[in-house]
Amino acid sequence: MTDSTIAFAPASIGNVAVGFDMLGLALEGVGDRVGAERRSEYGISISAVYGLDGLEHPYLPAEPGKNTASIAAEALWQEHGDDGGAALTIFKGVPLQSGMGSSAASAVAAVVAVNALLLKPLPVQDLLHFAMAGEQYASGGLHADNVAPSLFGGLVFCPSVLLPETVCLPVPTGISAVLVHPELQINTAHARKGLSATYSMQQWLEQQAYLGGFIAACASNDHDLLAKSLKDVIIEPQRAASVACFPAVRDAAMDNGALGCSLSGSGPSIFALVQSQRAEALSAQMAEACRNMGIECQSWISSMSAPGAYLESSA
Ligand code: HSE
Repeated sequence: MTDSTIAFAPASIGNVAVGFDMLGLALEGVGDRVGAERRSEYGISISAVYGLDGLEHPYLPAEPGKNTASIAAEALWQEHGDDGGAALTIFKGVPLQSGMGSSAASAVAAVVAVNALLLKPLPVQDLLHFAMAGEQYASGGLHADNVAPSLFGGLVFCPSVLLPETVCLPVPTGISAVLVHPELQINTAHARKGLSATYSMQQWLEQQAYLGGFIAACASNDHDLLAKSLKDVIIEPQRAASVACFPAVRDAAMDNGALGCSLSGSGPSIFALVQSQRAEALSAQMAEACRNMGIECQSWISSMSAPGAYLESSA
């Protein structure tokens, strides 16, 4: 019997510009870790939540009913656990309210860690539903575009109307994602409430074309079509004003060879796709544009086939 596990789940880019709530991309090199330890008391509890500085997190809740990780793990345990339970230790690696799928990474790492404690662990595809229970609590909406890439890795098509079906898409060769995280915070649930509920036929037709074009471009490795398609005419215009450095960072990206650039999720993070050999330079140029606006930032470069969540240890 397994008594103790640690799982890692990566951050992710929500929407990938073209597919609001239905397309997500895993990010390499940044993610959350969750440890799970078997307990005799029934259900899921939290032992501690550690922040990016390694200290106990000043305000992320350790109450099981208020933390995305424990809500997700509890949903799994209620259906598949035994009469004992597990205590979680959460190590945040993804900045909060960053548009990098922070709550999704915690939820995914928690279900992967707790799944490994089950007498019969579920296949990874079956964990999506439970991770989404945690994510829904945090974002106020039922969307899988952070949870699915964090769980499966790579580029995932995951529209809510098709769930639990998701599609891990082929990705083009030689393209990397650059993500710049300006040190600002945007609450996703709040940002979603401000979005228009109605759109014109013209907007709908245009965005459908970009989504179809982007997926076709990825499958056929057509970088020109990808550049023509990586556009958001629906959501980005409504959110751009909430990230003061977005126009400057996007201009820096587009002037320096990015195939496209948009907000990651509800922001403030900004991502670009670019030929891999240009990625280092582009990352520096985007970060410089952000700092020139007086906003400190961090940046990451990722392949488009970053691995999904995995178990780091089990004993
Ligand atoms: N698709 C979600 C949104 C992702 O854009 O609101 C949030 O990270």
